[in-house]
Amino acid sequence: MTLKLTNTEEMDIQYDKLEPRHLRVIYELTRSLITVQDAANVLEHVLEQLIEETGAEVGAFIYYDETENRFTPQIIRSKHRDESIQFSQTIFRKVLESKEAVLSFDVQNDAEYRGSSSVVMHDIHAVLAFPLIVENRVYGIMYFDSRKNRQRFNEAARQLLSFFAPIASLTLEHVLRKNAIEKENLLLKNKIEQTAGIPNLIGETPVMKRLFHLIKKVAASDVSVLITGENGTGKDLVARAIHELSPRRNKPFIAQYIGNIPSTILESELFGYKKGAFTGAHTDKIGLFEAVNGGTLFLDEIAELPTELQTKLLRVLQNKEIIRLGENFVRKIDVRIIAATNQNLVELVKSGKFREDLYYRINVINIEVPPLRERKEDIPLLVKHFLERENLEKPIRITSAAMKKLMSYNWPGNVRQLENIIKRALIFCDGEVIDANDIQFDELDVPQFEGTLEEFKNMLIIQRLKEFNGNKTKAAKSLGISLRTLQQKVKELGL
Ligand SMILES: Nc1ncnc2c1ncn2[C@@H]1O[C@H](COP(=O)(O)OP(=O)(O)OP(=O)(O)O)[C@@H](O)[C@H]1O
Ligand SMILES: [Mg+2]
Repeated sequence: MTLKLTNTEEMDIQYDKLEPRHLRVIYELTRSLITVQDAANVLEHVLEQLIEETGAEVGAFIYYDETENRFTPQIIRSKHRDESIQFSQTIFRKVLESKEAVLSFDVQNDAEYRGSSSVVMHDIHAVLAFPLIVENRVYGIMYFDSRKNRQRFNEAARQLLSFFAPIASLTLEHVLRKNAIEKENLLLKNKIEQTAGIPNLIGETPVMKRLFHLIKKVAASDVSVLITGENGTGKDLVARAIHELSPRRNKPFIAQYIGNIPSTILESELFGYKKGAFTGAHTDKIGLFEAVNGGTLFLDEIAELPTELQTKLLRVLQNKEIIRLGENFVRKIDVRIIAATNQNLVELVKSGKFREDLYYRINVINIEVPPLRERKEDIPLLVKHFLERENLEKPIRITSAAMKKLMSYNWPGNVRQLENIIKRALIFCDGEVIDANDIQFDELDVPQFEGTLEEFKNMLIIQRLKEFNGNKTKAAKSLGISLRTLQQKVKELGL
C-alpha cells in the first residue's frame, strides 16, 4: 500500500492519531531546532530521536542538487553502525518528480518499486520519504526506512514524521545555505589570496612571494614585528601592508620617524603631555601612542631611539600603558608596534647602544626585505608600475637596451633608486621611448666638482630639494640631517 500526500503543506495530519508521547518529542525537537546554534548537530540528534520513536533503522536528510541533478545524503543515522548505507534512487526520484511523500509500508511487494534493484538488494522493507520543499522546489528529502528487522511503520510514526517534515525542512535549508555560504567564502578568500599579492608591493620573484606570504601570516597575528633591510627596499610599504591586512585595518596607522629627532621632542610626540609640563606646553597634548590606540604605530629607524626612550618604550610594551609628561597616572593603550631599521641591531645590542630586552620585545618576528639586486627579475614589473603611476598622457616604451642597462646594475639604493632613475629618464627622454642613454645612474649625477666642501654641500641640498619636489622633510631625511637644519640652510641660501 502506498500512501500519497499532495505535498508537505497540504498533508492531512490526523492529530488524533498522534500518540501523546509524540507531542513531547515534537515539542523537544522543535525547541532544539529553534534555539540551538549548531543546526547540523541538532539535525543529527533529530534523526536519532525520530529513528527511536518510529522504529526505523535508517534516517537521513538527503540534499538534491538541481544543477547536477544529483542526490547527496547530508546527514545519515543508522542503527547498523559501521555499515555503508545505500539508498534507492528510484524512491528519491519518485519523491522529486511527484513532490509528494512516498509512504510505502511494504516496498518489496509494491508493484512500483519491485523493479528497483537497490530496494531488493538492500532489503528495504518500509519507507517513509518526505519532500523538503522551499518555494515550490524540492531541495531535499527527509527519509526513513526499515530493512533488516522488517518492521513496518505504524500510522502514528507516519503522522509524527508528516508533522515534523516541514519543521526539519526549514532547519536543513538553513544548514545547507550556511554551508554553501561558508564554502563560497572560503573559495573567494583563497582566490583573493592567490591572485592578489599585497597592495602596492610589486614583485613576483620567489623571494618576494615568500615575503608576501610572511606578511600575510604576520598580519593575522598581533605580535611586534621588526622589519630590516637596506635603504629603499620597501620597509615602509611592508609596515603599511601588515597593518592593512591585519584585524586593526580600520584603526589608525601612524608612522613616526625616529632618526635625528631630539629626545625631548620625540618623547612629547610619543607620550603627549599635560599643560605646563615644561616651558612651551601651553595646552594638554595627546601623544601618538594614544592617538593610534587600537591601531598600529610604525617606528621607523628604531636603531636611532635615544637610550632614555628605549627604556620608556620597553615599559609601554610590557605594561600596555603610558603616562603623559607631567601627569602622574597611567592610561591604558592597545597599540601594535612595528619597527624598522636598516642598521644591524644585533651589533648595536652587542656594543651596548641598543637595549637587549627591548630588542627581543620588538623583534618577535623579523621580516627581512631583500635588496633589489637579489630580485632583479622584478625590475621590468617595477618599471612598468612606476611608469603607470606617472599617469602619462601617452604610454612610454622602454627599449630593450635600456632595460638591459637596468638589469645589469647592482642597485645600492634599491627600489627607491630605481623609482628616481625612472622619473629622471622620463625627463631626459623624447616623450615616446626611454633609451639606454636616458638611464643615468646616480654616480653620473655628481659632476666633477672643483669648489669648496661648503659649496658642495649647498649644491647637494639644492639638488635633493629638487629631487623631492621641494619636500623638505623628505630631502632632510635623504641627506641625513634634521628638518630644522635643512630649514636653516634653505634660509641661509635664500631659496
Ligand atoms: N615592492 C615594491 N613595489 C613597488 N614600490 C616599491 C616597492 N618597494 C619599494 N617601493 C617604492 O620605493 C620607495 C622606497 O620604499 P620605502 O620607503 O618603503 O623603503 P624603505 O626600506 O622604508 O627605505 P628607507 O630605508 O630609506 O626608509 C617608495 O617610493 C616605495 O613606494
Ligand atoms: Mg623607510
